[in-house]
Amino acid sequence: MPLTCSPDWDKMPPDPDNEGTTTSSLTQSLNSKQSTQPAPTAIVTGGSQGLGRTIGEHLVDEGYRVISTDLHDGGLPRFDGSSTDVGLSWLELDVTNHAQVRDVFDQISQQCGGIDAVVANAGIQRHRALVDLSWEEWSAVIDVNLHGVFSTIQAAGRNMLATGGGSIVAISSVSARGSAGRAPYSTSKAAIIGLVSTAAGEWAAQGVRVNAVAPGYIDTGVLRDGVAAGTLDMDVIMNRIPANRLAQPTEIAQTVGFLLSQQSSYITGQTLYIDGGFMIDYGIPLAKKPD
Ligand SMILES: NC(=O)c1ccc[n+]([C@@H]2O[C@H](COP(=O)([O-])OP(=O)(O)OC[C@H]3O[C@@H](n4cnc5c(N)ncnc54)[C@H](O)[C@@H]3O)[C@@H](O)[C@H]2O)c1
Repeated sequence: MPLTCSPDWDKMPPDPDNEGTTTSSLTQSLNSKQSTQPAPTAIVTGGSQGLGRTIGEHLVDEGYRVISTDLHDGGLPRFDGSSTDVGLSWLELDVTNHAQVRDVFDQISQQCGGIDAVVANAGIQRHRALVDLSWEEWSAVIDVNLHGVFSTIQAAGRNMLATGGGSIVAISSVSARGSAGRAPYSTSKAAIIGLVSTAAGEWAAQGVRVNAVAPGYIDTGVLRDGVAAGTLDMDVIMNRIPANRLAQPTEIAQTVGFLLSQQSSYITGQTLYIDGGFMIDYGIPLAKKPD
């Protein structure tokens, strides 16, 4: 495994795939958290570039020790389990590998004295009309955007429940309500909303909050690449957004930071649209101005 220190498996939270083998201790974990963790710990999946990178950098500004778990490092230093400093580092992790997600989250929790905040951000897209979509294209998107988010939320929740609480935010999208040419993406982003609400209900009494944000079109490399490739038309996008501009990644990151913080301590199970009015139902415009 990628971490520098050996995990103490005796302190791991219950394994839902193998119930009955746990020896975790809430008191032990809380004591460990208080004595060894000056900075709260946050994990951002897919945090080495794009929106996840901006979220990670914002959380560093908020005083977190942030670990990007991603397929690539994005130039970030490798996570050193012995460091307690505020900053942004990276660990290799493929969110489609359920067992690996569980193991890496358990090890980070062990090394950092718990996990305070998690952002399930890793996501991919495939553009194809529904009638032409291959099983491979469908499965690739569902594997990362839905199965990966399930693995992330479950691994985060298990650790937070064992160490006294925490906050999780998953990245959905306005595409959750349907999106032409993006059937698996839309389906995965809609499913996230149900998953977040369910996790929030199951864990609210134990101090674990789970929310989602659903961004509209963000000014990121992915969007610019889509425009350059001709799969997205910037004029069409702008005409559809009442605010008449794209979201800046920092606008999404600030909202994620709020939902992870104590400022939102009574908010759980919600999906917050950050979309410049994209989801407003305009109704039918008047044919002419009234006299
Ligand atoms: N860009 C937008 O306009 C927009 C709008 C709404 C929602 N979103 C959502 O925001 C999130 C980030 O999007 P982005 O635009 O920054 O995309 P991006 O492609 O720039 O970044 C995605 C990151 O996820 C990582 N990743 C991909 N598959 C992974 C896997 N199996 N395991 C771990 N990491 C993996 C990538 O390596 C990459 O670093 C996604 O969930 C996306 O659906 C984006």
